[in-house]
Amino acid sequence: MAFTRRDFLGAAAALPLAGPGLWKTALAAADPTAQVLRATSGMTRLVPGDFPETQIWGYDGSTPGPVIRVRQGETIVRRFINELPQPSTVHWHGIRLKNGMDGVPGLTQALVPPKGEFLYEFDAPDAGTYWYHPHNRTWEQMARGLYGAIVVEENEPPVADRDEVLLIDDWRLQPDASIAGGFDAMMDWSHGGRMGNWLTVNGKGEYRQPARHGERLRLRLVNVANARIFPLRLDGLEGWIVALDGQPLARPERAGRMVLAPAQRIDLLVDVVAADGARASIDFLSGNDIYPLVGFDIDGRVRTERLSPPAPLAPNPVPPLGDTGQARTVTLRMEGGAMGGMGGAMMGGRMMGMRNLVAAGRVWAFNGVADMPDAPLLAASRGETVKIDMINDTAWPHAIHLHGHHFRKIDKNGQAGPLRDTLLVDRGETAQIALVADNPGKWLLHCHMLEHSAGGMMTWIDVAA
Ligand code: C2O
Ligand code: CU
Repeated sequence: MAFTRRDFLGAAAALPLAGPGLWKTALAAADPTAQVLRATSGMTRLVPGDFPETQIWGYDGSTPGPVIRVRQGETIVRRFINELPQPSTVHWHGIRLKNGMDGVPGLTQALVPPKGEFLYEFDAPDAGTYWYHPHNRTWEQMARGLYGAIVVEENEPPVADRDEVLLIDDWRLQPDASIAGGFDAMMDWSHGGRMGNWLTVNGKGEYRQPARHGERLRLRLVNVANARIFPLRLDGLEGWIVALDGQPLARPERAGRMVLAPAQRIDLLVDVVAADGARASIDFLSGNDIYPLVGFDIDGRVRTERLSPPAPLAPNPVPPLGDTGQARTVTLRMEGGAMGGMGGAMMGGRMMGMRNLVAAGRVWAFNGVADMPDAPLLAASRGETVKIDMINDTAWPHAIHLHGHHFRKIDKNGQAGPLRDTLLVDRGETAQIALVADNPGKWLLHCHMLEHSAGGMMTWIDVAA
């Protein structure tokens, strides 16, 4: 099926900002020896062809920022320098690190002001695919391109001819390929979040690369979009999901249709089965449209026999769940948003009506509170197994992310699913998760649709030292 840039942008013309005719065509001491990570602006070609380059914000001036690659157990040290016109911080998504390095302003550190800096230093206990991004005005800073991948290599990596990170983003661009403003638009906040009209992989539109028939590829998919959920399928590629959100599956699973919600990762091991001269792809299933996000042009062949199916990756040192039947359970009720029927919520310790909430940019709530609560959702003793009942009482899906821990979804029969750090909970859906609260400190729990989180879907848990 032919699906062109024009079609995609045409289909996106219903977006609020897409008009007719669009796309016709300071705190830690500075360590001068540490490697620098600079948040700054830069120019990049997001849209190929005759379009101008786009001014972005990126780590070291590029989007994505540099891939941070270490071996399991190694220490990551970065001297973060903020050259943005706004305060920022860096959050290392999915890494079970010490609390003071988690990058959450007001909870684990102070904001790093423009021209300020902060020294991040932490160990990477788990092998897998992780990523880093700002945690202040995240909805704007990430929409401008600030993010990068972290690859923590296994001590015994699986057999693969290539290992690639694929960061998938969704940009809202103007006809001159510049980034559209309107980051604080309540229309986006109260609906699905800021959706774009241009897709990139690793900062490139129409991402394609050569491959050979018979190759085995390790592909690390990361959804770095503000709010878009990507239903995906493979074409001309066959293989297995070997890890989710960095954590290995106990048994690799056949990769069929997949859903990649904001902030989630899927690690694939796939064999190129498309014939020499043909094309393979990872396709985004957008309604009835099929949009090839990642294209592989098959040129040549290697090996005549398929490699054997991969063995499971070695598990990471995540503690096993205790007795989930006995575990303490708290409820997280998601409320608000368009068509949600929320009448009001607490904000700043006061009950407020919807009109005042909207005026204050608070259109969502957890448990009736539309901003960061003073008291944690849950205070756990260290090592305690706890459960959270997540009730999506809204008309929208939410990608709920817990900092500093991985959790498992518990199904109706009490069976625990794979470890994750971000769970998609569909509209009207209820999901129970369980985790071992073994990492002391204050950990954010929020929706990773960034406009939802900004609009009130944010709380925290406290794990005793
Ligand atoms: Cu990836 Cu609190 O975020
Ligand atoms: Cu949400």
